[in-house]
This record gives sequence, C-alpha cells and structure tokens, in this order.
Amino acid sequence: MKTAVVAGALGVIGRYVAERLAQLPDWRVVGLSRRLGEERERVRHVSVDLLDPADAGRKLRGLQDATHVFYCAFQPAAGAAADYARNVAANRDMLVNAVSAVDAVAPGLERVVLVTGTKYYGSHLGPFRTPAKEDDPRHLGPNYYFDQIDWLSAFQRGKRWSGCELRPQTLCGFAPGTAMSIVPVIAVYAAVSKALGLPLRFPGKPGAWRSVYQVTESAHMANAALWAATEPRCANQAYNITNGDTFRWCNLWPRIAEVFEMPWAEPQTISLVAHMADKAPLWDEMIRKHGLRPYRFEELVAWPFGDYVFGCDWDVISSVTKSRLHGFHDVVDSEEMFVRLLERFRAERIVP
Ligand SMILES: NC(=O)c1ccc[n+]([C@@H]2O[C@H](COP(=O)([O-])OP(=O)(O)OC[C@H]3O[C@@H](n4cnc5c(N)ncnc54)[C@H](OP(=O)(O)O)[C@@H]3O)[C@@H](O)[C@H]2O)c1
Repeated sequence: MKTAVVAGALGVIGRYVAERLAQLPDWRVVGLSRRLGEERERVRHVSVDLLDPADAGRKLRGLQDATHVFYCAFQPAAGAAADYARNVAANRDMLVNAVSAVDAVAPGLERVVLVTGTKYYGSHLGPFRTPAKEDDPRHLGPNYYFDQIDWLSAFQRGKRWSGCELRPQTLCGFAPGTAMSIVPVIAVYAAVSKALGLPLRFPGKPGAWRSVYQVTESAHMANAALWAATEPRCANQAYNITNGDTFRWCNLWPRIAEVFEMPWAEPQTISLVAHMADKAPLWDEMIRKHGLRPYRFEELVAWPFGDYVFGCDWDVISSVTKSRLHGFHDVVDSEEMFVRLLERFRAERIVP
C-alpha cells in the first residue's frame, strides 16, 4: 500500500491527482488544503495552512506512512495571472513547510513530485525558444519555480527519496474556487456572449489567434504525475507535460462556437477582467433561468487567467520527447478535448 500526500488537493491539478490515485487499489490519499475536501474510501483530507510552519508541523505529524508527496499547492498573488515575481515567498515557504514536515516523520518516503510549469522558460513574458526543452536555460527571474526547484534539490541531497519536477501548460479541468483553468473561462464567456445576443468573438490579441499554443488536460496531468512518482527513470529529473500536440485558436474557435450553438466572429481584443466585471448579476439571472448549479461568478472563473492565456501572441510549445523516451506515452487530442470538456460543462449544468 502506498500513501500519497497531495498538497493542494482541491486545485485544478491536485484534485485530479487525488481522484486518479483513489481509483487504484494500492494507494491511499491524504489531501492537504485550507478548505476541507470530500472524504471517500482511501481518501481523507487535512485542513492545514501550509504558509504556517507550526500548523503544518502539527497537522502533518501523523503522516508517518507517507511514501509520496505530490506538491500541487499554489498561492496566487492579487492581480495579473502571469505575474509570478510577486508571489515568490509564499510559494517557496508552502513547499518548504509541506515537504520538511513530511520528511521529518515519514521514513518510507520515496519521491516528491513538484509541479511547476512552462513559465520556467519565460513563456509568460514573450517569445522564447520553441519547442522548449527541459535543459534550456531559465528566464531571468524572479520566478517562484526557481526558488522551489533550488530548495527541493538542495533539501533532497543525501536523502533516501528522490524528487521529480513536472512542467505543464494551461491546465484544462474544473476545480471550483481556484483561479487557473481556461475551460471555465471559455464556457462562461461563451454563455454570457450568447445571452447578450453576441457572436463568440475571440477576446485575445490578433497574434494569439494565429499563434501555436498548447495545453495540459488535468486528467492527463494526473496520469503523468502517477508515472513521475513511480518510474525509476524519473528520479531527480524534470519533464514538460502537455497534451503532446499543439493547436491554433483560429482553428479551434469555430468548433467551440458549435458546442454553444452560436455564430463566431473574428478577434476583438478586450480585457476579460474589465469587461466581465459587471456581469455577475447577469450570471445570477442565468443560473435562475437555466437551473444551473449555483456557483458564484467569482468561484467559477478567474478572468485574469483568460487575459493571460489569450494575450500570448507568440508560440507556446514544449517538447515532450524526454517524457516519451522515459516511458510516458499518453497523448490527448487538444481540439477534441475542448469540445468534450465544454460539452460536459453544459451537460453538468455548470453553464447553459
Ligand atoms: N493552472 C494552470 O493552468 C497551471 C499551468 C502551469 C503550471 N501550473 C502550476 O501548477 C501549480 C499548482 O497550481 P494550480 O493551478 O493547480 O493551483 P490551484 O488550482 O489554484 O490550486 C491551489 C491549491 O492549493 C491550495 N492552497 C493554496 N494556498 C494554500 C495554503 N496556504 N495552505 C494549504 N493549501 C493551500 C488550494 O486550496 P485552499 O485554497 O483550500 O487552501 C488548492 O487546493 C502552480 O505552481 C502553478 O503555477 C498551473
């Protein structure tokens, strides 16, 4: 029996990692976050503030059986989604507090999987060398990933366990109450546009419309995390994890409009943060009218994330060759994935 400690178990990555492991008979899962998650067979939750070392030490003291840590917690800073310089201290400290507390009590710890992302290469700053490879140089910081990676590799030295770092790009999943997923952004933007009798206009920059982009489905990321935790070749390695393909919004957009049974139109660049700011009352009305699940507007979507993704008017491509060579062969068709996830959002009454 293996015991996974999933830090950030309610997030758009951690939630899926916990779910994936819970499907396997030989894993137990302990989810960590400030909010409490649902308890199920072999899954329990601990409410802990990982920013508080005393709370972490106290609440994680009982995790002697931990064999794996999946570190998927994230503390956003207020403001632009791409501003990773502003939240260095919080994100480094949460990792330090979580991993040191587990390391101190769990003699059977085997691996710590750390989730970082493509912003390692400066993908959020402007054009960068593509396809990005794991040993490409970092961008000029600050970037909290660098602090996390450097701390973890120094702390790991001489220990019985190994680390593994995964770099995904723009997660596609659903985790109500967390800030970063592009699927709810598209779903709610489309539904609101339709309610206002507008076509589905691409809200991003004209350059983003035609650039090559990539995403990582959350369920695919969870499979990758499982592989990274258990594959001997992954010890102390880093891997890009994307769906394994690329796409352009200009090709995908008409298919998204089809899902919502509405016309689409050419890009008109707007700030979603600014233009969705007054739409919460309309959303409440739409919930009543269409009998939707009663998520609050701000719980459903983080508009800064949409502005960030649709503002990348440069190619964003990572090479996934290294992960394939080391044994992770799953792939996802990204265009089909968007259609599938958006249809599910409609079927599950998250959007009309
Ligand atoms: N989302 C993306 O598109 C994306 C893309 C590439 C890379 N990444 C990277 O993946 C990592 C995880 O991000 P994510 O998007 O999955 O985050 P997320 O969806 O915002 O989830 C964050 C998780 O961390 C928990 N958390 C936050 N502060 C905490 C605290 N003080 N103590 C305990 N738990 C805390 C949250 O639960 P509570 O709020 O209940 O505490 C939640 O479970 C980040 O480093 C991010 O940069 C994400």
